Amino acid sequence: MMRTATCGQLDVKALDREAALTGWVDTYRDHGDIIFIDLRDRWGVTQVVFDRKHKEQIHEQSKALRCEFVIRVKGFVKKRPPGTVNAKIPTGEIEMLADSLEILNTCPTPPFELGEKNVNEEIRLKYRFLDLRRKDMIEALTFRYKITKVVRDFLDKHEFLEIETPYLTRSTPEGARDFLVPSRLTQGSFYALPQSPQLFKQLLMVSGYERYFQLARCFRDEDLRKDRQPEHTQIDLEMSFVDEEDVMGIVEKMVADVFKKLLNRDLQAPFLRLTYEEAMNRFGSDKPDMRYEMELKDLNDVFKGGSFKIFNECMDKGGKIRGLCFTPATGQELSRKDFDTLTQWIGGFGAKGLAWMKVKDASSVDSPIAKFFDVERTTKLISTVKGQAGDVIFMVASDERTSAVALGALRVHLAELYFHLPTNDFKILWVKDFPLLEWNEDEKRFHAAHHPFTAPRPEDITLLETDPGKVRSLAYDLVLNGSEIGGGSIRIHRKDLQEKVFKVLGISAEEAQDKFGFLLSALSYGAPPHGGLAMGLDRFTANLLGRESIRDVIAFPKTQKGTCLMTEAPSPVADKQLNELGIQLKKQ
Ligand code: AMO
Repeated sequence: MMRTATCGQLDVKALDREAALTGWVDTYRDHGDIIFIDLRDRWGVTQVVFDRKHKEQIHEQSKALRCEFVIRVKGFVKKRPPGTVNAKIPTGEIEMLADSLEILNTCPTPPFELGEKNVNEEIRLKYRFLDLRRKDMIEALTFRYKITKVVRDFLDKHEFLEIETPYLTRSTPEGARDFLVPSRLTQGSFYALPQSPQLFKQLLMVSGYERYFQLARCFRDEDLRKDRQPEHTQIDLEMSFVDEEDVMGIVEKMVADVFKKLLNRDLQAPFLRLTYEEAMNRFGSDKPDMRYEMELKDLNDVFKGGSFKIFNECMDKGGKIRGLCFTPATGQELSRKDFDTLTQWIGGFGAKGLAWMKVKDASSVDSPIAKFFDVERTTKLISTVKGQAGDVIFMVASDERTSAVALGALRVHLAELYFHLPTNDFKILWVKDFPLLEWNEDEKRFHAAHHPFTAPRPEDITLLETDPGKVRSLAYDLVLNGSEIGGGSIRIHRKDLQEKVFKVLGISAEEAQDKFGFLLSALSYGAPPHGGLAMGLDRFTANLLGRESIRDVIAFPKTQKGTCLMTEAPSPVADKQLNELGIQLKKQ
């Protein structure tokens, strides 16, 4: 037996007993006759003492130790001398007095200090095997595992079956670009890695499994951000004979179970539900962060008939003036330069400008455009946005959508810049009744807002032919602290309706048959009503732990450029491999 305990295990109950420990040298302190090390493994650290007076030869041998050496020590568990107890760790009252030492492996000086907080991420990713030894990473991966354990147990209790679906499949467009895998046996043909198990889980419903789940890896070749990876993991589920509330209800219970078991928090179910329209109007976002207010207000009524040309022109064109009220903390006064920077920033969201006013009192403001508004309008504006002295009112005049989206982005941006949001404050909600379709101006056609298999709201089906852009869907997103952590819908289970939706999406009958023939066929063979959802495990974990990026909760993530700095994937391959696949590269 190599060890009798882990480095997080020994305490006063083991006093004067012999023990053997293994692990990595975390810290090394040479005090002459006495050398201390902290020995570390996944479970914790234990202080080990090499005392010349106790064992001269072992003390001498311990001088060779360096950080990250792998060792085995044997000795007796002793109480730490008074004044040296570390109450912060479970092993803090004891130490091991070493009788023997075995160096199992050595280590050169690591490229970064493992205990250091602000290490360059590129170096961390290049030496991920070292980075993963850090406490933060062990905590993240352990927590991630625990989430999957609670989820699996929960779904098992509710009679869901975990069923694996293929990774080598055919391309089913869901919005992102596919990763393709060339076939050797059918040269010129490609598999696609799944963007999600969407169609397979629907087929399982047709087959009568009724309750399916899978912790599924999904692959999307899209532009990456801190909350997007080319491969991510979904907690994917599907149910038959359900309506929206049934699916949302079970997911609420599952999420509440995770919060209770892992954070000891009680989440109030049912969660808040907002329609997409309400979320856009009140927060300018379909994933509103509800940890702060700053609600958007429609100001057309306030400014109607006024003398400010820009606002009038906007309203004449059927546009909207929306505003929000920001309360700076003491000492956070915004300067002219801050306003200029914000104005430039919001241009990136299509807003042509950003109007701002500092509230002086209930009826007057400081602003370059203050002179365009009479006292009556100014007073009405301040009361509409519930402004107090010292607040700043920001306004955007643009078309209905841009005014909401730009101001909604500003709302989030201001919070990031000026609020210190506690990471243990969780606000969760559903956003539902999304539009079924989104108009793509470049391609001059509709795209599915969620995916093409999402059911329209029954009362809107007739609009499919007359005004497709107005059709709402039976889709719902789960939003936690401004992050979309899950999305799902009730699906189309009738072949005729699916064909109709394909048509509205500009997919011809032949193309539909070619790409989705198997789905249309399955729908015609007794498909039950069904629906489901997928939660993004990476985002959920990162949120619960208050981590900035999902890279911090994934063992081996990729960079924003989709590369793995450790293995250097993607990489060129040998000509022989390409030849076998019948592939010739274009000269760049
Ligand atoms: P959707 O595309 O909304 O739905 O994905 C579900 C959830 O997965 C997470 N997610 C991602 N996480 C990290 N990196 C990515 N690139 C990424 N893309 C998505 C998000 C998202 O809410 N088949 C449907 C689900 C369904 O209808 O049942 C689907 O994949 O948290």
